[in-house]
Amino acid sequence: MKYFITIALALLIILASIIGYRQNIFNIVTLPYDDEQIGLQEQIIIHFSHVVAENTPKGLAAAKFAELVKEKTNGRVLVQVYPNGILYNDETELQALQKNEVQMIAPTFSKMTDLLPRWQVLDLPFVFEDEQQIKSLYEKSELKTMLLDELEQKKIKGLDFWHNGFKQIAANEQLIRETGDFTSLRIRIMASDLLRHQFQLLDAVPITTSFGNVYYEIERKGVEAQENTISNIYSKGFHTYEKNITLSNHGILGYAVLMNESFWDSLDGEIQQHIMDALNEMRNWQFDVSVEINNDSLRELESLPEVNIYSLTAEEKTEWKERLAPIYYYYEKEIDVTYYKLLLEHIENN
Ligand code: LMR
Repeated sequence: MKYFITIALALLIILASIIGYRQNIFNIVTLPYDDEQIGLQEQIIIHFSHVVAENTPKGLAAAKFAELVKEKTNGRVLVQVYPNGILYNDETELQALQKNEVQMIAPTFSKMTDLLPRWQVLDLPFVFEDEQQIKSLYEKSELKTMLLDELEQKKIKGLDFWHNGFKQIAANEQLIRETGDFTSLRIRIMASDLLRHQFQLLDAVPITTSFGNVYYEIERKGVEAQENTISNIYSKGFHTYEKNITLSNHGILGYAVLMNESFWDSLDGEIQQHIMDALNEMRNWQFDVSVEINNDSLRELESLPEVNIYSLTAEEKTEWKERLAPIYYYYEKEIDVTYYKLLLEHIENN
């Protein structure tokens, strides 16, 4: 009996060895090294949420930033970009950032003003005369440093400013030329007291709504006009309804590039440096691409026979500025005098 058991066991072992050999079980295979595959523990993911289309100044900047950070950190840090408000809209993204539900966002300056009213300084109309004055402000300026530093009290790390362009007026029914054309006009604005005052001074009816709702609101005639950049108007197809576009260049639309502060603090110094290097490296590129996109989008709009584009004359601009004059007083007296002075100094010297 013992003999049969031994034979049976030996046969079983031989059989298992043959099967094992044929299935390649005993070969220790070394997997090829894939430097894209960083251990999950080591990889750092930055979720970056924004509200505009991918082919816009902010959309392209976010993608470029992701590419540079991946390259500089050898894939250790991955920036995952969520465009078009698919994660958060502009009413919820700041809170999501503060709760670290996303690690990065880039809201417009206007959308910072509820949290930090002094940021309204960048909403003031007719301050910037050309793109160069904006570019130098974003590159390096005392005002930029002070605004970004203010974010610390809100537990937000302010990283940089990105450009979009000058704001224009797009209207459904009527081309806006003189300030009288604003009377009773329901105009969509971003959430900013200064922007509300601006349109109240023109006797318009400002209506705050998030970017994701604008199309719906113009379609159902909840709003009859808006101020926005040409790239935002074109990329979202707002001109389908708002066919009358006035090139007024009355204000600027730029972005604060923000990170959750505790997340930033959790990164080691080398990674923080790579992130800053990426932003420094892309700053001029980002600015120039924004100008280009706005110019290209304008050309596209000009080629559409149904779209009516008009540039304000110098006289009309003067008339707008006169009507809006009390807004500077509002900012200076009610918000902050230092920031206003810094802005004027910047314009004078650039
Ligand atoms: C808007 O709400 O009109 C813009 O702020 C959208 C954007 O982020 O450019």
